[in-house]
Amino acid sequence: MTIKLFEPLEIKNITLKNRIVMSPMCMYSCHLEDGKVEDWHLVHYTSRAVGQAGLIMVEATAVSPEGRISPRDLGIWDDSHIEGLKKLVKMVKAQGASIGIQLAHAGRKAMLEGEILAPSAIAYKEGMKTPKEMDGEDIHSIISAFGKAAERAKEAGFDVIEIHSAHGYLLNEFLSPLTNKRLDQYGGSFANRYRFLSEVMATVKSVWDGPLFVRISASDYHPDGLQVSDYVTMARWMKDEGVDLIDCSSGAVVPAKIKPFPGYQVAFAEQIKKEADILTGAVGLITAGIQAEEILQNGRADLVFLGRVLLRDPYWPRTAARELGYDLSPPTPYERGW
Ligand code: FNR
Repeated sequence: MTIKLFEPLEIKNITLKNRIVMSPMCMYSCHLEDGKVEDWHLVHYTSRAVGQAGLIMVEATAVSPEGRISPRDLGIWDDSHIEGLKKLVKMVKAQGASIGIQLAHAGRKAMLEGEILAPSAIAYKEGMKTPKEMDGEDIHSIISAFGKAAERAKEAGFDVIEIHSAHGYLLNEFLSPLTNKRLDQYGGSFANRYRFLSEVMATVKSVWDGPLFVRISASDYHPDGLQVSDYVTMARWMKDEGVDLIDCSSGAVVPAKIKPFPGYQVAFAEQIKKEADILTGAVGLITAGIQAEEILQNGRADLVFLGRVLLRDPYWPRTAARELGYDLSPPTPYERGW
C-alpha cells in the first residue's frame, strides 16, 4: 500500500512534497510591534521545514495595521515587511518545504488601541470594543490592502496564499448573518454577504496566479448562523472564481460552546470536497499518523493541517512515518543519524 501522507500533491504551478501542512498559528512575537519578521519566526518555521512538513503556512499576517489581532502580529501592510518575509521564505525553501502565507484582517476581534472595523457595529462579546460599521471607503481600502499584500507576498517568494475567512475575523464577519446586519449590497442576502470575500479574492487574483487557499469556519455553531451546507454553496462559487483549496476549520464567529474531539472538523472537509468537488484541507485535533492516513485514503480531504501537535513535535512527519512504516528521507545533514 502506498502511504498517501507522503505522496506529493500538485496544485497549479507547485508540487507539495507531501500532504502535511503546518497550520497557520499566530506567534504574537513581533516584539517591536512593527509587524516585522524576527529571529523567532525564522527559527520556528524553519524548524518545521527541517522536520519535513510539506507546506509551512505562516500565521495570520495583517494586511493593514488595524487588522491585527494584537500589536505583536506579523504584518504585510507595508513594503518594509518584504525583506524579513523574503528571508523567511528563503530559509524554509532551503529545507525543501513549500511556504504559504495567511493574509488576514481581524475585524471586530482586533484587540488594539483606536478604532476597529467590522461590517456592523456589534461587539464580539461584553467587554470587547464595539467596532465602527465600515463605510464604502473602508471597504474599498481593505479590499485594496489585500491586493497590495498579495503583491508583497509574491515579491517575497511565497508559493501559496491563504485568505483568512474563518474564526470570526473580518471576512467571516461579512459572511455570517450573525455579524453582518448591513442594508447595502454587502449585507442581507447570502450572495450579498459573500460579495466582500469575492471582491477580496478577485483583487488578490489580479496580482497572484499561484495556488489560492481560503480558510473558512464551516459552522457558526448557532441555530441562526451558517452551516456546512451554506459553505458547500460558497465553495462552488469559490471554485468558479479560481480558489484551489478550501481549508476547513469552524467556529469562533460568535461565542459558542463546542466540544472538540479527534478529527472534529474532518466531516466538514469531506462534505465540501464531495459536494463542491474542490480540494480541501482537514484540520483540528489530527495528531496521529494513522488518523491522517485514514482521512487521505478515504478521500475525505487532500491535505492535513496540523497545529498544536507540530508545536509539540516539530518532527511529527518523522513520528508519523515511523508509525506508518514509511521510509522518510532525512534532511541531508542527518543522513547518518536519522
Ligand atoms: C491557532 N489557529 C490559527 N488559525 C488560523 O487560521 N490562523 C492563525 O493565525 C491561528 N493562530 C493560532 C495560534 C495558536 C497558538 C493555535 C494553537 C491555533 C488555529 C490553528 O491553525 C488550528 O486550526 C487549530 O489549532 C486546530 O488544529 P490542532 O491544533 O488541533 O491541530
